[in-house]
Amino acid sequence: MYASLFVSALAGLAAAVPAPTGSRRSDWTSELLGLVSKKKLTFDRTGSFKVVSFSDMHFGERWGNGSWAVWGPSNDNMTQQVHSIILDQEKPDYVVFNGDLMTGENVFANNATGYLDQCFAPTVKRRIPFSCTHGNHDNANNINHQEEIEYEQKHYGDLSYTRMDVGPEPWGVGNYWVPVYANEGDWAPAVIMWFFDSRSFTSGTGNGPGPVAPSANYYWIDENTVPAYIDGQSGLMRKTWGSLPPSLVFVHIPFQRSDQLYQLGTPGDHDDEPDPSTQGTINNTYTGLDAPAFTSIFGLGDGQNKVLAITSGHDHGESWCARSSNSSGIPLCFDGHSGYGGYVTPNSQVRNGRVFNLKLSDLRSNSGPKVQTWNSYENKTINDQVTLGPDFMKNYL
Ligand SMILES: *[C@@H]1O[C@H](CO)[C@@H](O)[C@H](O)[C@H]1NC(C)=O
Ligand SMILES: *[C@@H]1O[C@H](CO)[C@@H](O)[C@H](O)[C@H]1NC(C)=O
Ligand SMILES: *[C@@H]1O[C@H](CO)[C@@H](O)[C@H](O)[C@H]1NC(C)=O
Ligand SMILES: *[C@@H]1O[C@H](CO)[C@@H](O)[C@H](O)[C@H]1NC(C)=O
Ligand SMILES: *[C@@H]1O[C@H](CO)[C@@H](O)[C@H](O)[C@H]1NC(C)=O
Ligand SMILES: *[C@@H]1O[C@H](CO)[C@@H](O)[C@H](O)[C@H]1NC(C)=O
Repeated sequence: MYASLFVSALAGLAAAVPAPTGSRRSDWTSELLGLVSKKKLTFDRTGSFKVVSFSDMHFGERWGNGSWAVWGPSNDNMTQQVHSIILDQEKPDYVVFNGDLMTGENVFANNATGYLDQCFAPTVKRRIPFSCTHGNHDNANNINHQEEIEYEQKHYGDLSYTRMDVGPEPWGVGNYWVPVYANEGDWAPAVIMWFFDSRSFTSGTGNGPGPVAPSANYYWIDENTVPAYIDGQSGLMRKTWGSLPPSLVFVHIPFQRSDQLYQLGTPGDHDDEPDPSTQGTINNTYTGLDAPAFTSIFGLGDGQNKVLAITSGHDHGESWCARSSNSSGIPLCFDGHSGYGGYVTPNSQVRNGRVFNLKLSDLRSNSGPKVQTWNSYENKTINDQVTLGPDFMKNYL
C-alpha cells in the first residue's frame, strides 16, 4: 500500500536526513540510507504487501536482421500488455524490474531512455511504486546502469525507490534497500527489500567504448564495496531497531550456488539451467568472487532464516525456487521471463512475473518468517505456488 508522506521519527538519531538524489556514500555505518524522504511503504489493512518481480523485459530489441528482424516495436507493445495483464490480475503494492530492462546494445544514445518510459508505463499508469535492479544488457555503448537510474529518479521520483548507495566505481551503482512498515507510525520496518547490482559492462560488442575495459567484464556484485555496505547498513539496523527485519533480495544475475540447486527439479521451468550464466564468471571461468556478497546476505538471516529469498532473472527459461545446504538454506528463485524481447525457451513462451505475497502473520510466524510465492502468467493463470520458510525443502538442509 502506498501510504502518506513519511515524517521520520528518527530525526536526530541515525538517519533522517534526506539523501540528495543519486548521492553515494562510502561510510555505511553512520547513516541508514534507506530512510530517505520518500512516501513510507506500508502493509495494507489486511496485513498484506504484494510484490511482483518482472525480469528480462529487453525493450528496444529491434535492430539487425536474420532472427532478430522479427523483434521490434510490436514486441515492446506485447511486453507492456504482459505487464498490464499481470498487474491487473495480481494488483501488487510494489513492482520490481529485476534487470535487463532494455537490450542496450540495440539502442541509440539520443533516445535510449525512451525505453524506460515504455517499460515503466503499465506500472506508472496504475500508480504502483517500483524500483529496479539492472542487468548485463542495461550496460552497453549507449546506455549504462547509472544513466538509467538518473533518468528514473529525475522523471519518476514520485513512484521510484531506486537509489545508488554504492559507487560509481567500480560501476555497480544500483545497490540499496527499501523498508516496508506494518503501520505508518512504526519505528521499525516489518521487512526490508534489498536490491543489488550484478554489473557486467560491455554487453554486445565487448569492444567498448563501455565504461571500463572488456577485461573487466565482471558479472557479479562487487566484492570490495557491497559486502561492506550490507554489513554496515545491517549493523546500524540492528542497533537502531533492536533486531533485523526479514529480508527479500533482488539481483539480476543469479548467484553461482543456483548451479547446485537446479537438479533438485522443483516446480517451475527448467529450460535454461544456470551454469555458466551465473555470477562470478569471467571468460567462462568461475572465480568465486560472488561469494563475499552471498556471505553478507547470509548474515542478514541472523541464523534464523530471515532471508526469505534471493530472486533473479537472466536465465529466461528458469522460473523455480529451491534451497538446500548448498545455498546455506537460503531459497534462490528465478523470475522467469516477462518480456517479448530476449531469447525464448520452449516452456517459457507464456510470459510471466514472480509474485511474493508478503503477510505480516507469515513474517511473524512463531516457527520463523515465511512468504508465499508463485508465477503469474499473461494467460491469466498462476502456477508453481510454494511457501518459502522453515518447512520449505527442510530435508535438503
Ligand atoms: C544482414 O546483416 C548482414 C551483416 O550486416 C548483411 O551482410 C546482410 O546483407 C543482411 N541481410 C539482410 C537480409 O538484410
Ligand atoms: C499495441 O497493441 C494494441 C493491441 O494490439 C494496439 O491497439 C496498439 O495500437 C499497439 N500500440 C503500438 C504503439 O503499437
Ligand atoms: C529511437 O530512434 C529510432 C530511430 O529514429 C526509432 O526507430 C526508435 O523508435 C526510437 N525509440 C524510442 C524509444 O523513441
Ligand atoms: C578475458 O579474456 C579477454 C580476451 O581474451 C582478455 O583480454 C582478458 O584479459 C581476460 N580477462 C581476464 C580477467 O582474464
Ligand atoms: C550440493 O551440490 C552437490 C554438487 O552439485 C550435489 O552433489 C549435492 O547433492 C548437493 N546437495 C544437496 C543437499 O542438494
Ligand atoms: C497458461 O500458461 C501456463 C504456463 O505456460 C500453462 O501451464 C497453462 O496450461 C496455461 N493455461 C491456459 C489456460 O492456457
